[in-house]
Amino acid sequence: MCGIVGYIGKRQAYPIIIKGLKRLEYRGYDSAGVAILNGETRIFKCKGKVSDLEELTKKEDMTGFIGIGHTRWATHGEPNDVNAHPHASMNGHFVIIHNGIIENYSRLKQRLEDRGYIFKSETDTEVLANLIEYIYMKGNVSAEIAVRLALTKVIGAYGIIVICKDEKEQLIAARKGSPLVIGIGDGEYFFASDATPIVEYTHSVIYMNDNNVAVIKNNDLSLKTIHNDTLTPEVHTLDLDIGEIEKGGFDHFMLKEIFEQSRSILDTMRGRVVSDNPEITLGGLYHVMPRLIEAKRIIIIGCGTSWHAGLVGEYLFEEFARIPVEVEYASEFRYRNPVIFKDDVVIAISQSGETADTLAAIKLAKEAGALVLGICNVVGSSIPRETHAGVYTHAGPEIGVASTKAFTAQVTVLAMIAMHLGDKRGTLTKEEYTALIKHLTEIPNKVDKILSKNEEYKEIAALYKNSNNFLYLGRGYYFPVALEGALKLKEISYIHAEGYPAAEMKHGPIALIDEKMPVVVIAVKDNTYDKIVSNIQEVKARKGIVIAIVNEGDTVIKSMADHIMEIPNSDFALAPLLAVIPLQLLSYYIAVMRGCNVDQPRNLAKSVTVE
Ligand code: G6P
Repeated sequence: MCGIVGYIGKRQAYPIIIKGLKRLEYRGYDSAGVAILNGETRIFKCKGKVSDLEELTKKEDMTGFIGIGHTRWATHGEPNDVNAHPHASMNGHFVIIHNGIIENYSRLKQRLEDRGYIFKSETDTEVLANLIEYIYMKGNVSAEIAVRLALTKVIGAYGIIVICKDEKEQLIAARKGSPLVIGIGDGEYFFASDATPIVEYTHSVIYMNDNNVAVIKNNDLSLKTIHNDTLTPEVHTLDLDIGEIEKGGFDHFMLKEIFEQSRSILDTMRGRVVSDNPEITLGGLYHVMPRLIEAKRIIIIGCGTSWHAGLVGEYLFEEFARIPVEVEYASEFRYRNPVIFKDDVVIAISQSGETADTLAAIKLAKEAGALVLGICNVVGSSIPRETHAGVYTHAGPEIGVASTKAFTAQVTVLAMIAMHLGDKRGTLTKEEYTALIKHLTEIPNKVDKILSKNEEYKEIAALYKNSNNFLYLGRGYYFPVALEGALKLKEISYIHAEGYPAAEMKHGPIALIDEKMPVVVIAVKDNTYDKIVSNIQEVKARKGIVIAIVNEGDTVIKSMADHIMEIPNSDFALAPLLAVIPLQLLSYYIAVMRGCNVDQPRNLAKSVTVE
């Protein structure tokens, strides 16, 4: 969380930083700030968004070729002007921006206070700024040495960029746990939490690793560990297009991303699913496939929407490949002393590839000797680099904080792995395997068909936009879809919503149902269809409002429900890919009609790099 940007080179830094911060605003938007080095270091920062920062600096002279900027998701200290980054050290030698958490900050702060340091903010970042300065002044060392020594004293996570006012042609950056990418231009360097602020200037990037310190001095880059070992930078070429990170005519990134799903599912299958053979090839898993085929157990870990995709994965793996699966919140898994066997396969799912709890859970599983695989969207992010092997979802950049196309891409990857394993383990017959591949390849067109009914969802949204509570019900494969539908609604519209397995309704939530309660039922035809019809009757008997997702041509539920949203027929194991789409659109329109900031919902951030 928090987005950081830095620039050093021959252009004006400020416009590059502001544009970069706007691209990173999905990472946090409680406050924003910038520091420009031009003889002296000038800091401007305020509570609110990057647009508020622009307003603040409108009449200021922002010229300078070196600058750093920050957009914050508050951890230590409430979001206000003082706690906003950048933070200057007490004697003004250093200015710093930081993404992450310094866990031992209160002990360090106490020691610095004992030595006369006075703090203005409540942040852990100001502690780091003052620690660097203390070492710099006391040890009479260079800024680079002071940064490296300070970082050896720090416990926690950081992506930092540091300006030292005494060493003018220089920027220092360091990373541990929080992502940092360096873009290499012609006589200029860019720093950012991810590549989106960089791609319009250069495609050559270095992904910093943990404990790396990068120094740009007099137009030269040097990369070291915090212990002063010199490293050879590995330069990668970005496979990202600027058009992919712009709204392309849609009102919000979320809507654009919902509408991209036929393309993103297709891209995720491209080159992997061959329907005329038919075969599924997953290059990223090639070397580990023998171990995966023999797996006695699969543990899937993730957070938020990625965890919901993992739940769909559980049903897919158990059904197609007959391998027992456990799905765990990464945060619970890592702290509860889990039993991990050497022949377990752990699959970590993450859109960003940076979620702190998922990363920590991966490290734990690796230490226990399990094979750890990743399903990630952001190429070059931390999780793909920490795992033994994996499969990228090729969904393209997801900017809207509420995850949409990443979910369907993750489920597509899970379906491909489960089907491939089913074939290799002999738990699917050739006919079943062939039929499933055919169904999977038909999904993108069916997604388009659902999207074309957009206006119908808008009308339903208008009717229920003022509801205070929603219940989402589903069984089997559609239980995780119900959870995801409820999450989408609550995170962007702030309406309380709960997802439940439909059969559990009678053990509690049924008490909530009255004539004001919309109940969204995912009633796609599968082996529990008759049961879900009964659940709908139970809701109607209590005067609840039923909005049902049904297969095209379903007349039974049509006659009972208040509203239906039809999806094309498919294999029921793959239908989560379809059923989730009306739910995404319903949430989107309700949130827009309630005047909510859809792309940047309050208190949330897209990339949760704190624990
Ligand atoms: C945040 C985001 C969610 C996302 C979750 C996990 O809470 O707002 O949309 O599902 O993190 O993120 P990951 O990048 O690991 O999938």
